[in-house]
Amino acid sequence: MRLALTAIADELRRLKASGVTSVTVSDEGMAALRASLETRPAPAAASPAPRRKQAPEADSAPAAAPPAIVLPKGTKQAQWEALKQAVLDDAVCRAKVRPGMKIVLGVGSLDAAIMFVGEAPGAEEEIQGEPFVGPAGQLLNKMISGMALTREDVYIGNIMNWRPDLPVGADGVQTGNRPPTEGEMAHCLPYLRAQIEIVKPTLLVALGATAAKGLLGPKAFGALGEVRGRWHDFGGRPLMVTYHPSYILRNPINRTKRLIWEDLLKVMERANLPVSDRQRGFFL
Ligand code: URA
Repeated sequence: MRLALTAIADELRRLKASGVTSVTVSDEGMAALRASLETRPAPAAASPAPRRKQAPEADSAPAAAPPAIVLPKGTKQAQWEALKQAVLDDAVCRAKVRPGMKIVLGVGSLDAAIMFVGEAPGAEEEIQGEPFVGPAGQLLNKMISGMALTREDVYIGNIMNWRPDLPVGADGVQTGNRPPTEGEMAHCLPYLRAQIEIVKPTLLVALGATAAKGLLGPKAFGALGEVRGRWHDFGGRPLMVTYHPSYILRNPINRTKRLIWEDLLKVMERANLPVSDRQRGFFL
């Protein structure tokens, strides 16, 4: 029943996104819907669920099918706004976001040649509703300015639209972060694909193993070193895999900075950006 309701909600969202403002439901249709709701099994008596630090795959995987997204015709801006509304209306996203926190969609130029893809919102991002605004975001900004670009020149998205949950402390605050499950990523990926369809970047840059797994598939590799620093393909677009900025935050030495920088030099060359001798020598 839950899947059927999700399918109905998805279809209504799709119609809304394509400009339909009202739908007619026959009396028979309403009666069938009411009857199936009335025959839903009664919920089991509430018993407190055990709390775990690392939520296992089955617990956090949304039961709902990934959303079907049809972008409306119109400008990139109109398409992006329709997409944003679809994410905000998504029942799974809404259920996953903690009260008072925000669902997060990408940010930046809708004409960007370069799209960075991160993992998931963290503490700052779910407050501000914008990707990469916390410490990892400050470092990403520096990486972008090293490329002689600004945050407004590129597009920055995430695999996930909400912060993967962990049990909160007595103060109601979630302190740590966990990687998203495969089910969570599968639910959000259509929204990332839609952003790629709108922006049409020349290339994509996956930041870290989770983003790379989200784009290349969960079984595509074991260790990040197997795929990092090389070009891959995502839906016909070149995809560079590099480290997540938080890896540099944990290892702030020139050797790790140079590794990520070498990947970004490849990105600049592929995007036909000028590369100065000074830029070539960063972190040597
Ligand atoms: N890390 C990510 O991968 N994405 C964010 O938006 C913030 C931190």
